[in-house]
Amino acid sequence: MEVVVLGSAAGGGFPQWNCNAPTSRRAREGSARAKWRTQASVAVSADGKRWVMLNASPDARQQLLQNQCLWPRDGLRDSPVRAVVLTSAEIDHVAGLLSMRESQPFVLWGTRRVLGLLAENPIFGALNPQYVQRRAFDLGEHIELAGSDGSLGLAMTAFAVPGKVPLFLEGRDPQHLAGSAEDTIGLEIAAGSAKFHYIPGCARMTPELEDRIRGSALVFFDGTLWSDDELVQLGISYKTGQRMGHMSINGGSGTLTAFDQLDIGRKIFIHVNTTNPVLDEDSPERAEVAAHGWEVAEDGMRITL
Ligand code: MLT
Ligand code: MN
Repeated sequence: MEVVVLGSAAGGGFPQWNCNAPTSRRAREGSARAKWRTQASVAVSADGKRWVMLNASPDARQQLLQNQCLWPRDGLRDSPVRAVVLTSAEIDHVAGLLSMRESQPFVLWGTRRVLGLLAENPIFGALNPQYVQRRAFDLGEHIELAGSDGSLGLAMTAFAVPGKVPLFLEGRDPQHLAGSAEDTIGLEIAAGSAKFHYIPGCARMTPELEDRIRGSALVFFDGTLWSDDELVQLGISYKTGQRMGHMSINGGSGTLTAFDQLDIGRKIFIHVNTTNPVLDEDSPERAEVAAHGWEVAEDGMRITL
């Protein structure tokens, strides 16, 4: 199984267009070793020919052009992308679908909740149902992932993680921002005995999540913020990581501590926010995550399992 990181930043990308926090400014100026990143998404293939994208970020068009494995091969219209799986309905996970509306067959997989939110929004009607088949899965169900031309040789199980309703829906039910089990999910993807976990958004560690990922060969995990009050300290926002549905890396209930005993082969932060100091390769925070065995995802990173 091959996994390619198409994008590794949180919503807004890195550096974010309107952000002048030190990480973003120095990345723009080139005064820090901090690679630019598009918004989080990965592509997975069992055979190197037919691929599934996990989420479709607003940068999907650029990502599809930057990765040769995703270029058209046969005929006048073609794409190796046979399916897309959504882990939430956040804009940074679904907006790329609008750049994939050119009558190209693929299967769009999501929970009923996430597909329901897309169905509510007429703009996604641009994905012609003659070409784009929407298929729902249940949490905990073992799925043989199908693409537009049959099985992809990949199995998938989706599971609920603590999260939040999409930003654009917060006004609908402000007392219940955590949303339902189907709003924010993690994925286990397998090809034969090779297996990994993709969890780009998660508000906290739970015993159920620990049991699910303990001993995993590879976990991509929510690396949005270094500290829970990062945006507050910078004076950018009143929102903490907890308010945004993101567990932070540092601190007593942070990711470094939570993962230390889970015996995971490779731990990779993804969905990293433009303010997060781990993006600077020479920062003490980057050294600290490395000391705990973590990598920080970069666009174009390839992993064979
Ligand atoms: C998030 O991950 O918190 C959201 O993508 C925020 C956003 O859409 O700006
Ligand atoms: Mn996001």
